[in-house]
Amino acid sequence: MESTKIILSGKKPAGFTGDLLIYHLNQSKRGKLKCANKTISALLKKSNIQEEFLAEEGDTLLLYPGVNDGGTGLSARCLLFLGLGKNEDTKSEEELRESCRKLGGLIAAEAERIKAGNIAVCLPAMGSLSPRKVIQCLSEGILLGDYRFIKYKKTEKKDKVFKGIQTITFIVSKTSAVLRKGMRDGAIAAHASCTARNMANEPGNGWRASDFAAHARKLARKTELKCSILNKSDMKRLGMGGILAVNQGSVEPPKMVILEYRPAKKNETLLFVGKGLTFDSGGVSLKPSAGMEDMKYDMCGGAAVLSFMEGVAREKPDVGVVAIIPSTDNMAGGGALKPGDIIRHYSGVTAEIVNTDAEGRLILADGLAYGIKRFKPAAVIDLATLTGAVIVSLGHHRTGLLGNNQKLIERLLSAGEKSGEPLWQLPLGAEYSKQIESRVADIKNTGGRGAGTITAAAYLEKFVGETPWAHLDIAGTAWNFTKKSYIPKGPSGTGVRTLLEFVRSWKKGSLG
Ligand code: BES
Ligand code: MN
Ligand code: ZN
Repeated sequence: MESTKIILSGKKPAGFTGDLLIYHLNQSKRGKLKCANKTISALLKKSNIQEEFLAEEGDTLLLYPGVNDGGTGLSARCLLFLGLGKNEDTKSEEELRESCRKLGGLIAAEAERIKAGNIAVCLPAMGSLSPRKVIQCLSEGILLGDYRFIKYKKTEKKDKVFKGIQTITFIVSKTSAVLRKGMRDGAIAAHASCTARNMANEPGNGWRASDFAAHARKLARKTELKCSILNKSDMKRLGMGGILAVNQGSVEPPKMVILEYRPAKKNETLLFVGKGLTFDSGGVSLKPSAGMEDMKYDMCGGAAVLSFMEGVAREKPDVGVVAIIPSTDNMAGGGALKPGDIIRHYSGVTAEIVNTDAEGRLILADGLAYGIKRFKPAAVIDLATLTGAVIVSLGHHRTGLLGNNQKLIERLLSAGEKSGEPLWQLPLGAEYSKQIESRVADIKNTGGRGAGTITAAAYLEKFVGETPWAHLDIAGTAWNFTKKSYIPKGPSGTGVRTLLEFVRSWKKGSLG
């Protein structure tokens, strides 16, 4: 939760008087339980816990020391043992990071079960993973797992429900600035992801283009980000025929939201563009009604990009970061765009509309072309719930990744792996671009039955020129993402942590 306090402490765990004290247990080579803490090791030796609790990875055991005191002298209300399995020596850094986040998610779930507002976690050793990263990923996992969206629940009910973890105390043998930094990195990433989930959880009538604009303006007021908004009249003046076309059938005005972060020393700029489609009915090419309610999530790319900027504002990296969120809904009102219509994008490229439900690429094309012209970025990355086809190819386990620069792709693959948001690259190429050739305009907005994710990206590719560009199709991962302890049902906030990791590890001139 956003208001959760995180504390680093060098005090003895036995003195912790809160609700839940957490220890991690390993299995030794001979199958015996091991714990770094002496009191706990002694307790394990004289009890028969060993026979029932194997400490496989993710196993949990909850004890009430006050009720069944094994002479521990602990003051916490409850004690939680978390299994770490045998040994982490064989795991990669990425796997160890993910283990920590999953443990964090389990901790949050146990805290909710026993309504523990104050918890203390004895920091485990995780093989080759540095304590800084252990604490980073654990904080991330706990805060992500502690997420809840109760805004629209009846107030009486709200009073009864658990409000989430209030304080997390990490108990370490020696506090340090490095550990504090790790804790902060994890918290920033988790908070930003939860902000994205909050936006996505809002229904179509609770989160409109104007709400993206208002949120961005508020964020800029609180930080050193600069915010500017293009309104419908600006779009007309600039010739943004893509976003205007999608907005034609709606009574809600469109917005192009722009946030800029400038580092102290002049440096390159990275541009991020997020699809902020607040509800996708399909337009005149109407979607089937079953499951259409999920199309309120069609703004998850925009939510991720905007929330990521909250993290950027807090971290103040030394590279420039600009975010653009083209936002509108896709409705079928009287003035709506029709199949067969021809539109002209900001760049001058014309497109034949074959299907009004292929609207994401229309608003992104204007955002990409405008952003590249205005900000001359070293690289541009867009995030969008762009195609149902990506679910057919990758399911709900990986985000689709496409682009025109292999170095950029590699950096994103690595950032995704490190943050537990795995990506998978799909190809682009002339054969696919041919699928979107039009007889009457420069291109058309669908490419036929085959390779839907690729032909959508091929459309975007027409608007990025030579700028290194990558596209993340998050239609399969923005919600219904593979179940994990730290990812709830509903929107996952995917993309936020990948982008933060990408910026954290950015090196100037590295696409050279
Ligand atoms: N927002 C949808 C993509 C989508 C579908 C996301 C299902 C998540 C779940 C997008 O605007 C869309 O409708 N795409 C069409 C494109 C088609 C008409 C070429 C699609 O994927 O069916
Ligand atoms: Mn659509
Ligand atoms: Zn859409």
